[in-house]
Amino acid sequence: MTLRKIARAGHPVLRQRAGELQPEALATAEVQRLIDDMVETMRDAGGAGIAAPQVHEPVRIAVLEVRANRRYPGLPSIPLTVLVNPVLTALVGSPGAPLDERDAVTMYEGCLSVPGLRGRVRRPRRVSVTALDRHGHELRFAWEGLASSVVQHECDHLDGVLFIDRAEPGTLMFLDEYEQHVPLEERMIDGGLRARDPG
Ligand code: NI
Repeated sequence: MTLRKIARAGHPVLRQRAGELQPEALATAEVQRLIDDMVETMRDAGGAGIAAPQVHEPVRIAVLEVRANRRYPGLPSIPLTVLVNPVLTALVGSPGAPLDERDAVTMYEGCLSVPGLRGRVRRPRRVSVTALDRHGHELRFAWEGLASSVVQHECDHLDGVLFIDRAEPGTLMFLDEYEQHVPLEERMIDGGLRARDPG
């Protein structure tokens, strides 16, 4: 496995819609190597996920994994997941309407392609995802809460969208200032959990 160079904001590969991967290409050594390299690069950089365009490959593949992540303490564990050609559908809220607090998950996101910055992004707290896994088997699941933020962030990369495009105005900040000035309880807010908590 090889660590790949990570594209940074400003590189055009991060701003294009990545192409579908032809399912017959999935079994090729080249694509399997790409997936292995993405996992290795994500783990090395301490990311919660990485999308192929971030390693200069404009195809619709993303990998996710959270195990006591040092960049995001407080994120729930996510087992290693490989998503090929993922299709994401929000299961809460309606298009065009503002998200109700209890339907939202709000998190100061960061990105390996936007090093050193965080910004607050509000997203639907429940999404369904269909995709192929690395062996071409169909995956279908619903993600809820903070894990839903992670999968939406990675799928955004496949459409050329970065979290800085979605960050609420005025919330973009440097990592040092974030750690100094944003209290722990404001860093990740799952409105669904808060709504159920009578306190
Ligand atoms: Ni990212």
